[in-house]
Amino acid sequence: MKRLETDALWTAIDEYMSGHLVTSDAALYAALDASEAAGLPRINIAPNQGKLLWLLARATGARRILEIGTLGGYSTIWLARGLASDGRLITIEANPDYAEVARANIARAGLDRQVELRVGRAQDLLPALANEDPFDLVFIDADKPNTPGYFQWAVRLSRRGSFIVVDNVVREGAVLEQKGDANVQGMRRFFELAASEPRVSGTALQTVGSKGHDGLAILLVTTGP
Ligand code: DHB
Ligand code: MG
Repeated sequence: MKRLETDALWTAIDEYMSGHLVTSDAALYAALDASEAAGLPRINIAPNQGKLLWLLARATGARRILEIGTLGGYSTIWLARGLASDGRLITIEANPDYAEVARANIARAGLDRQVELRVGRAQDLLPALANEDPFDLVFIDADKPNTPGYFQWAVRLSRRGSFIVVDNVVREGAVLEQKGDANVQGMRRFFELAASEPRVSGTALQTVGSKGHDGLAILLVTTGP
């Protein structure tokens, strides 16, 4: 099949599956609408991926979640809804304009008490989190060249049994390009680090759908406090 046909098919199947299994409500639709109206790039996760994050939060009984890369807060809402009743989520966004949109979206979803949005570069903000309790679940979905560093921080900020999820690990196959751009190098370096990091054990899955051909890595932290 030609590329356009496969994309349309993947999107139709995403819609079919989500139509059955993924309930999006007014707050989720409004978050996407407000993000689009504000001119944010349409690089939010898909609804069925959001539901996967919710499932992971529920499955792990997450009480502390860290998200690196808030964008408009769409994934934040999915993750925060999966928190245990007394749980908290910290999300980091470098772009103050994106953060403003996200703040309104999170408030509209009624999650502003559970979610703390920190505005700044993650490299600058992550060290302070080392003084806090470890996170049960970390979702990395920010600037791709810095993903290796974010992964190292995620391991450091985790405990035994924490999960780390990394978005965009395939990038339409570009991950195979040894001389790829900085985004590709970031993902390739992430894979090298994950492979050689004795404290984690994980896997990665290719995804197709409304977000094209990409992938998610899911890693368990197997040692630590
Ligand atoms: C891009 C970033 C993402 O996090 C994503 O899911 C898709 C695309 C991007 O920067 O192009
Ligand atoms: Mg992403």
